Amino acid sequence: MKILTRNQTSSTYYFLITVVSAVGILFSCSPKQGVAGTKTITAEHLAQGKVVFDNSCGKCHDLPNPSDHNAQDWVGIMNSMAPKAKLNEEQHQMVYDYIVSVK
Ligand code: HEC
Repeated sequence: MKILTRNQTSSTYYFLITVVSAVGILFSCSPKQGVAGTKTITAEHLAQGKVVFDNSCGKCHDLPNPSDHNAQDWVGIMNSMAPKAKLNEEQHQMVYDYIVSVK
């Protein structure tokens, strides 16, 4: 019983090392942020989101106030506004993350 426990512990340990190095390799190869699943929100990502927001979201109406809606509502609003503002998927995500971060 004791041996079994020790084996499980060490395989968990090796599994973690594998995951950590795999994530390291993934991120070193890919500069993209905000990819679903392995999402890492950086200050740079949010700053880019603000730039896109400032430039794209005040064209047809006043620049919206992030605190007017909750994070859940913003999902739906962004789904209808991102195509209007012609945002690509990455811009859509960074604008959403920016809005939710300032509210
Ligand atoms: C091409 C014009 C256009 C652009 C660009 C645009 N919007 Fe809008 N937006 C509208 C119109 C029209 C409405 C009102 C009708 C509607 O809700 O579809 C609206 C409504 C809204 C509302 C109010 C929705 C509600 O339920 O109260 C919010 C918030 C909003 N837009 C956010 C944004 C954000 C964020 C962006 C940038 C990603 C953006 N809009 C870009 C046209 C635009």
